Amino acid sequence: MKACAATVVLLLAYVSHVSLACPPVCKCYPRRAEVVCNQVPLTSFPSEGLPRNTSTLTIQFTNITSITEQDLEATPHLKELHLFNNRLKNLSSHLLRGVPHLTALDLTGNKLTHLPADVFSHAPLRSLVLKNNLLEIADAGWIPDNSNLTWLDISGNRLAKIPADFLQKMPQLESLDLSNNLLENISANALNQLTKLDRLNLRNNKLDDLDASILASTRNLTYLFLSRNRLTHLPENIFQELTQLKHLTLDDNKLSNIPTGLLDNLESLDAEGLDLTANPWLCNGQLEYLFRWLQKNQTRLFLPETITCSGPQSLKSRSVMSLTESELNLQAS
Ligand SMILES: *[C@@H]1O[C@H](CO)[C@@H](O)[C@H](O)[C@H]1NC(C)=O
Ligand SMILES: *[C@@H]1O[C@H](CO)[C@@H](O)[C@H](O)[C@H]1NC(C)=O
Ligand SMILES: *[C@@H]1O[C@H](CO)[C@@H](O)[C@H](O)[C@H]1NC(C)=O
Ligand SMILES: *[C@@H]1O[C@H](CO)[C@@H](O)[C@H](O)[C@H]1NC(C)=O
Ligand SMILES: *[C@@H]1O[C@H](CO)[C@@H](O)[C@H](O)[C@H]1NC(C)=O
Ligand SMILES: *[C@@H]1O[C@H](CO)[C@@H](O)[C@H](O)[C@H]1NC(C)=O
Ligand SMILES: *[C@@H]1O[C@H](CO)[C@@H](O)[C@H](O)[C@H]1NC(C)=O
Repeated sequence: MKACAATVVLLLAYVSHVSLACPPVCKCYPRRAEVVCNQVPLTSFPSEGLPRNTSTLTIQFTNITSITEQDLEATPHLKELHLFNNRLKNLSSHLLRGVPHLTALDLTGNKLTHLPADVFSHAPLRSLVLKNNLLEIADAGWIPDNSNLTWLDISGNRLAKIPADFLQKMPQLESLDLSNNLLENISANALNQLTKLDRLNLRNNKLDDLDASILASTRNLTYLFLSRNRLTHLPENIFQELTQLKHLTLDDNKLSNIPTGLLDNLESLDAEGLDLTANPWLCNGQLEYLFRWLQKNQTRLFLPETITCSGPQSLKSRSVMSLTESELNLQAS
């Protein structure tokens, strides 16, 4: 009987300890100092019971609409904050003041339209994800000078331009994702500080032209995605410095030709590393450089037989590789 009562007391103590140490609808993993609130009916930040030593906090698929500096002050050791798919509309410029160790912030899938100046200045962020929000403008004022960001993802927003001074503040950047926006234009010097860039994704924008020098400083680039834009031509020297490039996608653009020499320095391309499909290639004598490059480097191409002519009429839909020199009016090589 005595033992039984003691057990009950112990159990009660345990239950109250657990409920104190963790917000009611969340899961806490004390040994990893991690808290996860996943797909639960929250409408505001789960302050109650949040352990002070939390270092990773995930609140995802909930209905919270705001998060404040005071909310975060309760967890000053926070290193990672994942706020995936909630309903956040705005952030205060002081939001991160109370989390001086925060290195990763993920705001994917919220309703952010604008962000205030200095919003990311108060924490030593290395990874910042703003994917799938409603941002129309990216502003240099968000980011501190000499930011240590290595990973930036602003894909899936409504950006029509990307200010050069914004990217110039992130000399440590290794991965930049601007895909699925409305970019029409990237200024010539926008990437000139990004000497460590390894991966650049510009897929699915509205780029119709690229400056010849835009990639002159990104010599370590390994992955470059330019699919689904409106590129009609490429400057001859644009890829000249990209000797480390393994993967290049140019599919689904409006290219009818490429200039002689364009691919000459891409010595590191992986097998199937170059995608040129879904472009309106014009199969005449001017296509000689591409034609001969394809013959020699078939293994580097993704689906080489689907690189087809859109004209002239007599060659329409023919695979470029299947053409003969006489069909292209070329002298035998
Ligand atoms: C965090 O604090 C809780 C109790 O307050 C403790 O049980 C846990 O071990 C701590 N975790 C770490 C990683 O320090
Ligand atoms: C969020 O609110 C919507 C209704 O506005 C509701 O259908 C949904 O279940 C809520 N989400 C969660 C995780 O409670
Ligand atoms: C966010 O917007 C709401 C309503 O527009 C406003 O009441 C609130 O103060 C704003 N919060 C911040 C942090 O700016
Ligand atoms: C980036 O890191 C360096 C070296 O650790 C540090 O001196 C600098 O203050 C950091 N920059 C920012 C904006 O925190
Ligand atoms: C592209 O950017 C340049 C300057 O950076 C500007 O003069 C030009 O109007 C822009 N073009 C488009 C189509 O936005
Ligand atoms: C480029 O990559 C090489 C090899 O990975 C590395 O040694 C070098 O430091 C990198 N350059 C920059 C500017 O990051
Ligand atoms: C393409 O073929 C030429 C001639 O064989 C060769 O020199 C070059 O290295 C090849 N390029 C790639 C990327 O393999």
